[in-house]
Amino acid sequence: MTIVAIIGGSGLTNLKNLRITRREVIRTPFGEPSAPMVYGQLSGREAVFLPRHGPGHTIPPHEVNYRANIWALKETGVTKVIAVNAVGGISPDFLVPGSLVIPDQIIDYTYGRAHTFFGSEHKQVTHVDFTYPYCEELRKILIDAAKRAKLHARGHGTYGATQGPRFETAAEILRMERNGADIVGMTGMPEAGLARELELCYASISVVVNPAAGKSKETISLKEIEKNLETGMANVRTLLEQTIPLIVRA
Ligand code: HPA
Repeated sequence: MTIVAIIGGSGLTNLKNLRITRREVIRTPFGEPSAPMVYGQLSGREAVFLPRHGPGHTIPPHEVNYRANIWALKETGVTKVIAVNAVGGISPDFLVPGSLVIPDQIIDYTYGRAHTFFGSEHKQVTHVDFTYPYCEELRKILIDAAKRAKLHARGHGTYGATQGPRFETAAEILRMERNGADIVGMTGMPEAGLARELELCYASISVVVNPAAGKSKETISLKEIEKNLETGMANVRTLLEQTIPLIVRA
């Protein structure tokens, strides 16, 4: 049985090192996920891949059907989910483009997104613990795999999730910095919260692709981001190759 899923973000709409065996369209009570599930072999182990923004990178962060995506992943039977997120760097230690972060905390600034499976249609008022929003077991594996692959990856950091699709103002980033956010991205929530509601072990590989607004002399350039995405995603592929065998036995 496939036990590990990868949710690809910007710059990772297909996983070059996944040997694809089949695709499956999954329907959910919440609508369609971003794409058919892509099954295949990564480092000789079974894995399933889902591109968050759709196969052609057409779904913006605030329009992703996070509930359908997480529900569909649960349906496949996976128990572990590795999410890949492109981020801007806020704190001084998190500014190197192309570098990786395995965050351990989240601050949610998003709004108006369908963010729970436990609305009033759910039989019972339900609250889940989210003190530590990421799966510590999976985080440890990712950090260990990064060391083995000799990749520069920070094992801690607070992910600030913003609504987008515009980037932030310099003042918004300053406020986030005062709040304790180290990195900023648009897709970390509600994804992580939904994964927790369905009891999936979920962690993120965040890839720094630009200094956040006001953190460099220049304004944010998409060209620069694309360049850094390429380097960053090459690092992500290497990290995934190292990680999967630590999760799935041959
Ligand atoms: N802000 C929000 N999301 C992002 C950024 C950013 O600077 N870079 C990549 N995703």
